[in-house]
Amino acid sequence: MSLDNTIFFDASSLSSSAAERLGRLQARTARIGVIGLGYVGLPLTLLLAEAGFQVTGFDIDEKKIGDLEAGRSYIFRIPEEEIQAARAQGLRATSDFSRLAEQDAILMCVPTPLTSHREPDLSYIENTARATATWIREGQLVVLESTTYPGTTEDVLIPLLESGNPHGLRAQTNVAAATGEGVFYVAFSPEREDPGNTTVARRDIPKVVGGHDPIATHMAATLYEGIFEKAVRVSTTRVAEMTKLLENIYRCVNIALVNELKVLSLRMDVNIWEVIDAASTKPFGFHPFYPGPGLGGHCIPIDPFYLSWKAKEYDFNTRFIELAGEVNEGMPEFVTQQVAKALNREKKALNGSKILMLGMSYKRNIDDLRESPSLTIIELLRAEGAEVLYNDPYHPTVGRGRHYNLNMTSTPLDNLSQYDCVLIVTDHSDYDYQQIVNESKLVVDTRNATKGIASTKIVLC
Ligand SMILES: NC(=O)c1ccc[n+]([C@@H]2O[C@H](COP(=O)([O-])OP(=O)(O)OC[C@H]3O[C@@H](n4cnc5c(N)ncnc54)[C@H](O)[C@@H]3O)[C@@H](O)[C@H]2O)c1
Repeated sequence: MSLDNTIFFDASSLSSSAAERLGRLQARTARIGVIGLGYVGLPLTLLLAEAGFQVTGFDIDEKKIGDLEAGRSYIFRIPEEEIQAARAQGLRATSDFSRLAEQDAILMCVPTPLTSHREPDLSYIENTARATATWIREGQLVVLESTTYPGTTEDVLIPLLESGNPHGLRAQTNVAAATGEGVFYVAFSPEREDPGNTTVARRDIPKVVGGHDPIATHMAATLYEGIFEKAVRVSTTRVAEMTKLLENIYRCVNIALVNELKVLSLRMDVNIWEVIDAASTKPFGFHPFYPGPGLGGHCIPIDPFYLSWKAKEYDFNTRFIELAGEVNEGMPEFVTQQVAKALNREKKALNGSKILMLGMSYKRNIDDLRESPSLTIIELLRAEGAEVLYNDPYHPTVGRGRHYNLNMTSTPLDNLSQYDCVLIVTDHSDYDYQQIVNESKLVVDTRNATKGIASTKIVLC
């Protein structure tokens, strides 16, 4: 086992078709199919196209296909020029899965949500695997990028690819007679994108790669080294799957810790954000995490529960994950209580108050609403009789989603004195916080966005 790119394989065990495909991956002339053109898949196709690969994007969402074929972007932070530049490099989008047969490598970036019972919903991976199995060809590389529990690639993806394959192809394994004939290659490589992060360039984020056999690891690492500075080879798909979960559980647990300490600090009249800034001056042993109104996005609120579900199979209770989930999921309720308390201070009740919520996205400067705590906070405030409006430059309207049905339109950011309370849920950098405080009667700030502004109108929570 090694992390330093020394996992070897015998090159003579490659079939001629696999050797040709590997050569094209090295030369960046390979044809790459990306399945799932969402927040992960679309940026990945653009990186691949920019590096010179011949990229075809696959999706079941015809609107996305239509937009890409017309050179339009459907993700706020991806400008149209980038789509058009990729199209000039040969990027094409289709819902015709038969074109998977033309690819040298197939990368799967489909959703992995939780069911309504908070169990892993692998239906997207399963459907993609079934659709892919029909078209898979000898020597092709298939890489799963979706976040999931250890064992998914081996126990779910590979059996479906093998059983649905009309040519009887098998996934290459370490133990198979290594002739390279009649096999395809499978790896897992987690996506580590941090939406909205402008401090780390995407290509500078090392890409962890674990193959079902050493050839798969090598092929996948070769592909990713064409677009990322570094590929980190690990020994198995399970290690790669668990790596992603460790990263996200680490984040989830630490955010829960600071959220709990925030609640205590508020009671003790201590500013937790100032504490974190001070602790961050320690040059070792401390990494800052920040409290907020609750977790959001497609990763941190969901991924840890993939592992806690799987752990039950091993009679294991993941106590840290459960506790962190409990603390983080309680934050929207805490925010609602703090808004009520702040209004009470002004001799007003939540019932009947007019509240403007700033920011719907789950984090700053992005247009992603998935699992956003703002959605829950709106419902909680309304349940108490408050009238809630919102402003978010990234969301002109908010309609219906997996867990919400709001049908709201963003309210212009003017005449702020009409609101009993302005509630900052997402600290987009477009906002002029000084002006917001000046014009509002009361500001409840869940993000410390008003840091440095001295005003008795501000209530941190
Ligand atoms: N969004 C992030 O920041 C992020 C970061 C790291 C990892 N991930 C992981 O990456 C995976 C994808 O997440 P995302 O945010 O890109 O999801 P997304 O919902 O934005 O995109 C998924 C895409 O897959 C398409 N799709 C669904 N079923 C399909 C099928 N059977 N065939 C073809 N296309 C299909 C959907 O139409 C959609 O366009 C998830 O496992 C997620 O946990 C996401």
